[in-house]
Parts: sequence; C-alpha cells; structure tokens
Amino acid sequence: MIICIGAGPGDVAYLTQRGAQLIRDADVVAGFEAVLNVVRSLIPAEAQVITMGYRDQVAKLDEVAVEHHAGKKCVVVFMGDIHFSGFQYLERVERACGHPVESLPGISSAQILASRTKVCFDETTFITFHRRGDLTPFKRHLVHVLEDQRNAIVIPCPWDEARSFMPWHIAAYLIEQGIPPEHPVEVWENLTRGDAEWHGSLAECAEHRCSDMSIMLIRTLAPMASQIEAAPGQAETAPAK
Ligand SMILES: C[S@@+](CC[C@H](N)C(=O)[O-])C[C@H]1O[C@@H](n2cnc3c(N)ncnc32)[C@H](O)[C@@H]1O
Repeated sequence: MIICIGAGPGDVAYLTQRGAQLIRDADVVAGFEAVLNVVRSLIPAEAQVITMGYRDQVAKLDEVAVEHHAGKKCVVVFMGDIHFSGFQYLERVERACGHPVESLPGISSAQILASRTKVCFDETTFITFHRRGDLTPFKRHLVHVLEDQRNAIVIPCPWDEARSFMPWHIAAYLIEQGIPPEHPVEVWENLTRGDAEWHGSLAECAEHRCSDMSIMLIRTLAPMASQIEAAPGQAETAPAK
C-alpha cells in the first residue's frame, strides 16, 4: 500500500488527523528532509525512513516502490498540498510504482496566505513557477491574470541561477510586460513559523531579496465589490440594464 499525503507547510499543526494516523501506522515514511522534519514526532520508532533531496529523489522513490510492492505500508509526505505545486513529485512517485497512487489533501501555503491576507480564492489565481519544464505559458498567464483584474498568488522558483524565477525576477518581468512599476506586491516568508511579511511596489520588489520559502501576493488594483444582499435597512442596488 502506498499513499501520498500533504503535511504542513512548515508546521505539523497543519496536518490533517487522517494524515497523522497514516504516518503513525506506516512501515515506511518517505519525503524530502525538510518535510519529514515537520512530521518526525509522529513517525513510529520501528518505521523505515527514506529521506531524499532533489538530486536523488528518483533513486529513493524506486526504493520506496520496492517496499510498497513487497507489501509494506508506505507513506510519501509532501509539503503543504500535493495539488499546489507538488504534482510533478506525484508523477515521479507514480512512475516509480508503475501505477496511479492515492493521495490525501493537505493545507497549501497558498491557502494559508489567502487566509492571512483575507484574499478570496474565487477572485484569485494560483500560479507556480516551482516546476520543471517551460515556464513561458505560466509567465504569460500571470500577466493576463493581472490584466484581467484578478489577484495572483505566486510560488516562485528557487533552484539554480539558470532556472530561478524568484520574486525579484518576477517583479522585473512584470514591469517589462507593461504592468505598472508602482503596482503593490506582498512577499511572505516562512508562513506558519514566525513569518516575515514584506510590502512594496513591483519596482521595489525587483530590488528586494528573500529566502526560498517565500510566496507572493499581487492584489488586483480593482477589487470586486461585494455581491451579497443589501444589509437590513439599506436599499438594494438597482440591477444594471
Ligand atoms: C514545491 S513548492 C510546494 C508547495 C506546497 N505543495 C504547498 O501547498 O504549499 C515549495 C514552495 O512553496 C512555497 N512555500 C511552501 N511552504 C511555505 C511557507 N510555509 N511559507 C512560504 N512559502 C512556502 C515556497 O515558495 C517553497 O519554495
């Protein structure tokens, strides 16, 4: 048996009870070191722990798959929610196993940010650059999102010099694409663990440096007006003709 579960991000308090139970019952618990550290207190002493990094993840997932095919209860722990910028890792798990695997939702850093900043996801688009492959369509999409007057929650790409697309690169790119340099932006670091919040304009963001554990919020300049019913005693606004 194998299941991929979301945990954190950054704090075990944001793990679901079902996720915690799956870890407590596991024979094998696998994941990146930073993520395993979050759930370390729940891992049974007798469980096998398979720790991996970017470079050896394929080989380590092959080890997990061997244990799974041998009948062990295997849990692969992901940061936050699998379906927010974790899908390529899920694909690697499935490739190692040779079949689709079950997943359990977690709480994404994007959801924690939305909650912290009181941003409604209905009016917001999530975009990640933390993925392998061509980022061009995602970059274009971000420009369209802002042109369409929607908020954007953006996970940057840390990795190496050649591929990195961090908040300062994103801000410079947006200015190049015609988004006004004075458009406000927020960068939040280490949400759930003494987070640091930075506010400024795109032009300032292009000069601001932050850590890999950062997520951006670019609010629309034209937030939607409330569309709920009028408060008691207030006249309903006449519908547009
Ligand atoms: C591969 S993505 C995985 C995101 C994860 N699946 C989620 O739902 O949050 C990892 C990136 O998410 C962002 N991130 C994750 N946890 C964070 C946190 N606690 N605070 C700020 N950013 C975070 C950072 O940009 C980090 O490099």
